[in-house]
Amino acid sequence: MIEPSRGENQPDSCHVAVLVAEVLECLGVRPGETVVDGTVGGGGHASRILSELGPEGRLFGLDRDSTMLERAGAALDHPGCSLVQASFAEVADVLAAAGQPAGSVDAILLDLGMSSDQLADAERGFGFDHGGPLDMRFDLSVGKPAWEWLATVEEGELEACLRLWGEEPESRRIAAELVRRRRGAPVRTGRDLSDAVVEAVGGRRGRRHPATRVFQALRIAVNDELVHLERALAHGLPESLVAGGRLVVISFHSLEDRIVKRAFRDQDTWKAMTGKPIRATPREERVNPRSRSARLRAAMRT
Ligand SMILES: C[S@@+](CC[C@H](N)C(=O)[O-])C[C@H]1O[C@@H](n2cnc3c(N)ncnc32)[C@H](O)[C@@H]1O
Repeated sequence: MIEPSRGENQPDSCHVAVLVAEVLECLGVRPGETVVDGTVGGGGHASRILSELGPEGRLFGLDRDSTMLERAGAALDHPGCSLVQASFAEVADVLAAAGQPAGSVDAILLDLGMSSDQLADAERGFGFDHGGPLDMRFDLSVGKPAWEWLATVEEGELEACLRLWGEEPESRRIAAELVRRRRGAPVRTGRDLSDAVVEAVGGRRGRRHPATRVFQALRIAVNDELVHLERALAHGLPESLVAGGRLVVISFHSLEDRIVKRAFRDQDTWKAMTGKPIRATPREERVNPRSRSARLRAAMRT
């Protein structure tokens, strides 16, 4: 567990938390409660939650990325805040290790995907134009970097990854190009990957970079993101919440949103509090373009 250092802000952070007012309203946090931020990142949402919790409240902030936990530690100044490097899929174990009884958490937030600070770090490999290694892992101590996976994965498996997790219509052509490149100039960086996609399918179509779906697919594959989300919704999150406790999930693409929607509809541990997902206002979208794809769903633990 990382002890937060007190009160240094993160002046170099470029991440802007999305849907903050909507998150706070759905979490309905009251002073003295216990809350889990399962994706604490740089602590943007967490600092607002801690203000609502008051001095007697407790917040567990989880993140798979130790760099993000350092940022959160520097930004969050509260005696009841504990930061732990773990996946939200392991939340029940994290709470048990901290002596927090099962079924005693009042509210949980998941703000899925990556932070703008991770995207901006050229050494992490999340960006289209970066010359650093194409790593893409949230937790650098687990699994293989994306470039290494790309160097050996079978073409059929790669094609399926791009089709299923990127919903990429040109999955075949792109997979073939990525495999072809192994013979000459294999993909090692984000820039190499963008170049390979452009070579396979041509330049920009509309507002999105042509490699957007490919980057999404590889990030999901390298981090096993959808498995963590499904596992958490089925077990760790319902086990941790008190009856009547609230779960808020913000997703950034349709694969994640579909998993959340189905869990809230089909599992008897959840009672959905939102019908259609809550979206950012046009004003927030203007100020924070990342909020354009955010969809918030909330449910109550039955
Ligand atoms: C969108 S950012 C969260 C930003 C945060 N809400 C804020 O306001 O600063 C998502 C964070 O979740 C982390 N993450 C992604 N998958 C995770 C998982 N399964 N468990 C824990 N953290 C995860 C990423 O490392 C990243 O720091």
